[in-house]
Amino acid sequence: MRVLVTGGAGYIGSHACKALAAAGHEPIVFDNLSTGHDWAVKWGPLIRGDVNDADALNAAMAGHAPDAVMHFAALSVVGDSVDQPDLYYRTNVSGTLNLIDAMLTHEVTRIVFSSTCATYGEPEEMPLTEETPQHPVNPYGQSKMMVEQMLKDFSVSGRIGAVALRYFNAAGADPETQIGEEHDPETHLIPIILQAAAGKRASISIFGQDYDTPDGTCIRDYIHVMDLAAAHIAALDHTAPGTFTAFNLGTGKGNTVREVIDTAKRVTGREFDVVDAPRRPGDAPVLIADATKAQAELGWTPYYTSLDDIVGTAWEWMVRDDKGAAV
Ligand code: UFG
Repeated sequence: MRVLVTGGAGYIGSHACKALAAAGHEPIVFDNLSTGHDWAVKWGPLIRGDVNDADALNAAMAGHAPDAVMHFAALSVVGDSVDQPDLYYRTNVSGTLNLIDAMLTHEVTRIVFSSTCATYGEPEEMPLTEETPQHPVNPYGQSKMMVEQMLKDFSVSGRIGAVALRYFNAAGADPETQIGEEHDPETHLIPIILQAAAGKRASISIFGQDYDTPDGTCIRDYIHVMDLAAAHIAALDHTAPGTFTAFNLGTGKGNTVREVIDTAKRVTGREFDVVDAPRRPGDAPVLIADATKAQAELGWTPYYTSLDDIVGTAWEWMVRDDKGAAV
């Protein structure tokens, strides 16, 4: 299939492009490069465009006649979404409406959408199934939930079919180190820890040590980005006009912040300073996926089940000194 990949120059989108090409599909990247990188587009053409620009989306569809869409393009920093909800609703919700309009105009019937466990908010029951009520606690999660609702509503017409993939904590990098995580500023735990290990930052702060967890620090379900990419390929085959399905994507295992730090020290063989800091507003104590639905219906199981491997691939990318070079 020819697949229009919005946000295909970004972290998860670029890994999906690699998986698409490996599966014999043709990724066509549509990305405004606001947070993505042109060097991460290696498996097909790059169209520089913004989802807020309906004409650009229509031109991309007219020019490339995709069979399907994978929609990664979005703003995704939780704290920023609280400060600037207008940006988040415009790009994430209104931008997706532009994309759906263009799909309808050009009769593209399949879409795989990047959703998030942030749509669940701060649930008490663990692990989270797709039936867990969605009560997002910030505009980012809210905007992603609104898109899920739009896709569900549009699927009723039978003109599109959608799969929403609710990622837990994406981590790791392509084991061949062609691409990896590169955010500026970086806010995610594993790359921040590895920056400290690499001597690129003075220390790592643990946000909160008094949560109701075994060591007092937050628990997350870290899922390898290559496993997320593989799930997108399976999801593409699962899309059918008139249907909407959501799947959780996680390993089903949780790790505390301290466990991730200890793993990073072991995997890298480096020592670095760890500082106790106050809780970060909006952090749920525990988020763990029940991903049995994806296993049953998509035939998807995570390959990277060890945190050592997840951190290890991220570390190999971090220490690569010629990032962006053709491989
Ligand atoms: N953390 C620290 N120190 C840091 C950074 C993070 O202690 O310097 C802690 C956080 O408090 C949290 C855990 O590490 O407990 C993971 O934090 P991340 O920022 O890496 O990830 P989040 O769980 O906050 O957020 C991720 C994605 C978001 C998404 C969210 C829910 O980054 O985009 O999952 O889907 F919204």
